[in-house]
Amino acid sequence: MVRETRMDKSSLIYPMFIVEGTNIKEEIPSMMGQYRYSVDRMEEKLEQLSKAGIGGVMLFGIPDHKDELGSGAYAQDGIVQQGFRKAKELFPDLYMIGDVCMCEYTSHGHCGVLCGHDVDNDKTLELLQKTALSQVQAGADMVAPSDMMDGRVGAIREILDKNGYINTPIMAYSAKFASAFYGPFRDAAESAPAFGDRKTYQMDYHNRREALKEVDQDVLEGADIVMVKPAMAYGDLIREVKDMTDIPVAAYSVSGEYSMVKTTAAAGFIDETAIMCEMAVSAFRAGTDIYITYFAEELAKCMDEGR
Ligand code: PBG
Ligand code: ZN
Repeated sequence: MVRETRMDKSSLIYPMFIVEGTNIKEEIPSMMGQYRYSVDRMEEKLEQLSKAGIGGVMLFGIPDHKDELGSGAYAQDGIVQQGFRKAKELFPDLYMIGDVCMCEYTSHGHCGVLCGHDVDNDKTLELLQKTALSQVQAGADMVAPSDMMDGRVGAIREILDKNGYINTPIMAYSAKFASAFYGPFRDAAESAPAFGDRKTYQMDYHNRREALKEVDQDVLEGADIVMVKPAMAYGDLIREVKDMTDIPVAAYSVSGEYSMVKTTAAAGFIDETAIMCEMAVSAFRAGTDIYITYFAEELAKCMDEGR
C-alpha cells in the first residue's frame, strides 16, 4: 500500500534485431536468449510482444551489404524499412520505433560519414535525415537517433515536418555515454568500429554537466523524449535529467547489462528474475518514465504477477 515506485508494462520498450535472408531465427552468441530474425520470421516474436502488452518495439537492422556511406540505412527497401512494413502489416497497433544511426550500415562501423579518420558531424546530419524519413515512410511511429552527432534532432525534426510527419515524435539518445556496456550489442549488430572508438561523439562517463547540456540542447531542438544510456550505472543522471525537464525520460538498459545478468544467472550465482526486477525498479525509482530492455517480455509478466 505504501510502495512508492510502481511499474507499468506500457512503459517498456523491446529492442529487436532484423537480418536479411529468409527463415532465420538465430541466437546471438553474446546475448543468450536474444535472436536475430529475418523479416519472414518476425511474426512469432511480434505476436508475443503484442500479447505481453508492452509499450513499443525498437528495430535494429543488420544489412548484408555495408559501405562507406552506410547507404543501407536510408535505402527505401533496406532491411529495417522492410521490417517496419512487415510489422505494420501484421500488427498495425504495435508501436514501432526506429533506431536512427549509421554504424550497422557503414563498412568502417562508425556512426557517421568519415573525413579522414574522424566522423564528419555535419555531413552525417544529411544521411541521418534521410534515414529517419525512410523509416517513418516505411511505418515507424517514432524515431530515436542514437548517433550522438550535434544538431541531429533539429535536422530530423525539420525533414519530418517538411514531409508532413509533423506528429511523429523523436526520442533522442541525449545522454549517451561511450560505454563498454555496448560490447554484446556490437557483436549482435556487427557494428564495432573498425578502428578507433566512439569517444569523439559519445560522451565521457566522467562527465555529468556535459550530459545535462546535451539534454538541454536536444530539448531546444525539439526532442519529445530524452534518453539516458546505459541505465544501470547511470541512475544519478536519470534522476538529474528527470528533475531538469518536464518531457518524458527514457533509460536504456543495454546489452552488457542484460548479458551480465544472463551469464551470471546461468552460472547459478544470482536469481535472474529477482535481479531483473530490481534493476528495472531502480531505473524507475531514479525517475525514468520509459525503460528500454531486452527483458521487456519477462518484466511484463512479472508486473502481471505483481512483483
Ligand atoms: C547504435 C546503437 C548502439 C546501441 C544502441 N544503438 C551501439 C553503439 O552505440 O555502439 C547499444 C545498445 C546496447 O548495447 O544494447 N549507435
Ligand atoms: Zn551508431
